[in-house]
Amino acid sequence: MPLQTDGMVVRNGRIKSLYFMLGIYCPPIANQIKPGQFVMLKVSDNASPLLRRPFSVYKSYPVSHPEGRKRGHLFILYKKVGKGTQRMATWRKGQKVNLIGPLGNGFALPPLPSSAHCILIGGGVGVVSLYPLAEALRSRKCFVFIGGKTQNDILCVEDFRKLDSTIFTATEDGSLGFQGTVIDLFLSRAKKFKGNEKYHIYACGPAPMLRALAGTVTSRKFICQVSLEARMGCGFGACWGCVVKTKHPKTPYQRVCQEGPVFRLEDIVWE
Ligand SMILES: Cc1cc2nc3c(=O)[nH]c(=O)nc-3n(C[C@H](O)[C@H](O)[C@H](O)COP(=O)(O)OP(=O)(O)OC[C@H]3O[C@@H](n4cnc5c(N)ncnc54)[C@H](O)[C@@H]3O)c2cc1C
Ligand code: FES
Repeated sequence: MPLQTDGMVVRNGRIKSLYFMLGIYCPPIANQIKPGQFVMLKVSDNASPLLRRPFSVYKSYPVSHPEGRKRGHLFILYKKVGKGTQRMATWRKGQKVNLIGPLGNGFALPPLPSSAHCILIGGGVGVVSLYPLAEALRSRKCFVFIGGKTQNDILCVEDFRKLDSTIFTATEDGSLGFQGTVIDLFLSRAKKFKGNEKYHIYACGPAPMLRALAGTVTSRKFICQVSLEARMGCGFGACWGCVVKTKHPKTPYQRVCQEGPVFRLEDIVWE
């Protein structure tokens, strides 16, 4: 059940270039949040910016977590892009922050055999929502593809490495790893994923990246879930400002905040 509650900033600082890590003490949400779900943060007490801003939760620690000092905390990794995130970057330790969450349907995690192969593909800040998923998939073999425009946009590599994932990186300017998009990189490695096994792909990133993925994974051996980014008004299904066109005959327009943000790749109409 989503709830609206106050939390307290425990950490907020630049991790590199335009990227910041925000830690919030908020046990009710830290206890409930699942991989791929998000929160809506109130970024201002004034009328501007009026709307809350949506953010995936990068890490969360329920109150039952064995490490006492982490209990009840959640972490958001954000990029400073506009008015709201500029305000967030000024927040200081001890500050009160109001949030609504957990919101949306996260990644579906059907019971997978331990032999299942999982492929995680993240573009830019899209990789944030894939990290808790990789933690949940820990006992399985995970191939993680991380892309960005430059090496400054390649995020979370060290954390994925700690989970023993196999990591591939791509930058559009070639400053780190493969030169090209993360989907080009995935394609270049696709022959690695042969045989009769089924591969479970989980992807998150900007729409052009996911559209390119849809054009790539046509084989039935790939079962693919994607987490969509959309501009959001309310974040909980009331305003219909975040709809996406799908192939569902009865409900072709679905709300990214409510029915999503995670959808089956094949269900989306990529216009
Ligand atoms: C479910 C979900 C999870 C998200 N998780 C994260 C996250 O973990 N980390 C993170 O940094 N960002 C995340 N975002 C994007 C984040 O919500 C926006 O970057 C933020 O709202 C921008 O607010 P702003 O006021 O700083 O920018 P604005 O002034 O509102 O906009 C600045 C620029 O950013 C673009 N923009 C704003 N919002 C979005 C959006 N939702 N999608 C695409 N472009 C946008 C605008 O078109 C504009 O060019 C997520 C978005 C969604 C929908
Ligand atoms: S943001 Fe209001 S319905 Fe999705």
